[in-house]
Amino acid sequence: MGLLQPNQDVPFNITRLSHVCLTSRDLEKTRYFYQSGLGLEVTSQDETHLYLRATEETGHHSIVFEKVQSDQPGMCRAVTYRMYQDDDIKRAHDWFNLKGYSADFVDRDHQGLTLRLTDAVGVPIEFCATMDQSENQMRHFHTHRGARLSFLDHIQIATHDVQAAYQFYNDLGFRLTEYTATDGSDEMWGVWLKRKNNTQDVVYSNGAGPRLHHIAFHTPEIANVIHGADVMASLGLADAMDRAPGRHGIGNAFFVYYRDPDGHRVETFTSHYNVIDCDHQPTRWDLSDTRRSQIWGFPAPKKWFFEATAFDGVPVSPPKLDAPPVTLEDYLAQE
Ligand SMILES: [Fe+2]
Repeated sequence: MGLLQPNQDVPFNITRLSHVCLTSRDLEKTRYFYQSGLGLEVTSQDETHLYLRATEETGHHSIVFEKVQSDQPGMCRAVTYRMYQDDDIKRAHDWFNLKGYSADFVDRDHQGLTLRLTDAVGVPIEFCATMDQSENQMRHFHTHRGARLSFLDHIQIATHDVQAAYQFYNDLGFRLTEYTATDGSDEMWGVWLKRKNNTQDVVYSNGAGPRLHHIAFHTPEIANVIHGADVMASLGLADAMDRAPGRHGIGNAFFVYYRDPDGHRVETFTSHYNVIDCDHQPTRWDLSDTRRSQIWGFPAPKKWFFEATAFDGVPVSPPKLDAPPVTLEDYLAQE
C-alpha cells in the first residue's frame, strides 16, 4: 500500500495526544519515581488513583495511574487524545459507529465528555475535549525539579500491523512526518504520525503488539535531560535507566529512557522540530540505516526493543514483518 494521501476532510478535529492511563502496583513507589525523580506535579491522589502533569500543562493530568494488586503486571488501560470541542466528539461517535467501530461514551473523573473505542490494531483509545483546569507550574521556577518536564509529547506503540495502524490514523487526519520502510520498498516498519505542530503524537512501529513501548515528555534543554539522570541517580533510581543518552535520527530527539516501578517506559527528551506546512514531505529511513534510532551513541539494549507494556486484556500478536534490530548486545559481540 505504501504512502497514503493525507486526509484533510475529517468531520471532527483531533488536536493532540492528551494522556495515558497506566496501572501501578504501589502508588507511593510510582509517585516517588515521577514526582521526586522526574519532577512531575501530582495534581491529586487517593487510595486508587494518582494523577500527574508537567509544568506547561494546565489540564488536570497527562498520566493517570490506577492501583492494581501487587501480583499484577504493569498495564496500559487507555491512550487518550484531545479533540477541539465536545461537538467534535459527538460527530466522532456517529462517524466511528457508522464505520463499524463500537464507540461508547464513558465517565472519567476530572474530564468532560469522553468517547472510548478500540483502534484498528487493538489499542484502547479515548477522546476528550475538556478537563479540569488550574494554574500550572510554568512560572513557578522554584518548583521545577528532576528533568524539568514541560509536556507529554507523544507515545510509541508496537503493533503487529503497522500499515493497518497508518491507514486508521491517516483516515482520522493524522499526518505522516517520518517513516521507516524495508530497504527498496515502501513496506512500512514504523510511522511517525502527528496532529499538533511537531513530528509526532503517536508512533506505531513493527513488533509483537499491540503494546505500549513508551510515553515521552518534552523538556526544553539538553541540560534538563542530563540533570534528570543525575537526580534519578542521587535518589537511588539509577537502575531505572533503560537507554543511555543519545540522539535519534528520526525526530532529531536527544533522549534518555527510564522504566518506572511497573516497567512502563518513559522517555525524557528534547527536541523535535515544527511540521506544519502542507508541502512538508515525510522523511524516509531505510530499515537497515541504524542512524534512524541513534545518530550517535550505542545501540539500544535488547530489552529496549523487545520489552513493552501490554494493554489490559488485549492479546498480543507476532509482527507481520520479520526485521530484527541491531541491539547493544549484537554491537558489543562484534568487537
Ligand atoms: Fe519517543
